[in-house]
Amino acid sequence: MSLWDDIAERDVPLAPLTTYKLGGAARHLATAEHARDLLRIAHLLKEEPVPVVVLGRGSNVLVSDRGFDGVVVRLGTGFSWVDIGENVASGSATPLPLLARTAAKAGRSGLEFYVGIPGSVGGAVMMNAGCHGSDTKDVLLTVEIVDLGDATRQQVDAAALDLSYRHSNLGPLQVVVHAVFASEAGDPSVCEHRIREITRWRKAHQPGGVLNAGSVFKNPPGDSAGRLIDRAGLKGLTVGGARVSPLHANFIEAGRDATARDVYRLIRSVQATMGEHGVHLEPEVRLLGNFED
Ligand code: EPU
Repeated sequence: MSLWDDIAERDVPLAPLTTYKLGGAARHLATAEHARDLLRIAHLLKEEPVPVVVLGRGSNVLVSDRGFDGVVVRLGTGFSWVDIGENVASGSATPLPLLARTAAKAGRSGLEFYVGIPGSVGGAVMMNAGCHGSDTKDVLLTVEIVDLGDATRQQVDAAALDLSYRHSNLGPLQVVVHAVFASEAGDPSVCEHRIREITRWRKAHQPGGVLNAGSVFKNPPGDSAGRLIDRAGLKGLTVGGARVSPLHANFIEAGRDATARDVYRLIRSVQATMGEHGVHLEPEVRLLGNFED
């Protein structure tokens, strides 16, 4: 018996909680609905320390087939909300496309680019998510954070997060509770037109209808990982049920019979081949659990 059994479910499959739909179970899954639930988790962590990770919408993560031997913290619907004012505030579990559409409909412009990112507000802050020439750094004003390490809750200015390309200085135990974004007054029909343009672009340029987790690798400075992998002739390369997307080479698609290990081995294989071409690629997708033999 573990103290975690009081507040968390045991042996919960993680695959349904990710866009890859792959991987094993979490020893425990704790779903928080309020910041106070996160503080409770922080206190429990002091009493019974275990490995802990926070899962957002699971759109940028590959879970090992062996699962995760620790506590996965998930933010429930209590963290999914959008509050439109002069600025736009949003709970950290809010899907970014919902944030984009809600702001656009209300005539608040500047957040349209989020329609192209299937993650959550918390995930966007953690890794300064962006697309179409904008990123979170451009629009974020403040965040509220609960630190699971020392059980504190604080407001932090965006400037203190050291946001740069796919990077923030937030650690794995720092959980975004909500975020406040700058926006400008705009014509809802113009905002919605921009949203339709981005959605159309994504349909044409990124694989849809197949399991994936977006870009697998960060772009190297001044270039595009997809362009480089494509140029190396790796489109269509497969390992088991995993395949480098024929549409965009920085996406790895998981077929019906794929395992997380197939995707992992393909990631490593692409990295190795690109290394031989003198290109160092760093995964953008988060690897959760143990993948080595
Ligand atoms: N390209 C190829 N072959 C390919 C893929 C791309 O030649 O197989 C070329 C394109 O023709 C284009 C260039 O590479 O000239 C850049 O491609 P793209 O416009 O698709 O942008 P990207 O750098 O591959 C980045 C983000 C995406 C984001 C798009 C659009 C990263 C790692 N990826 O992709 O973000 O949607 O820009 O703004 O920064 C994500 O992070 O998960 C993600 C999907």
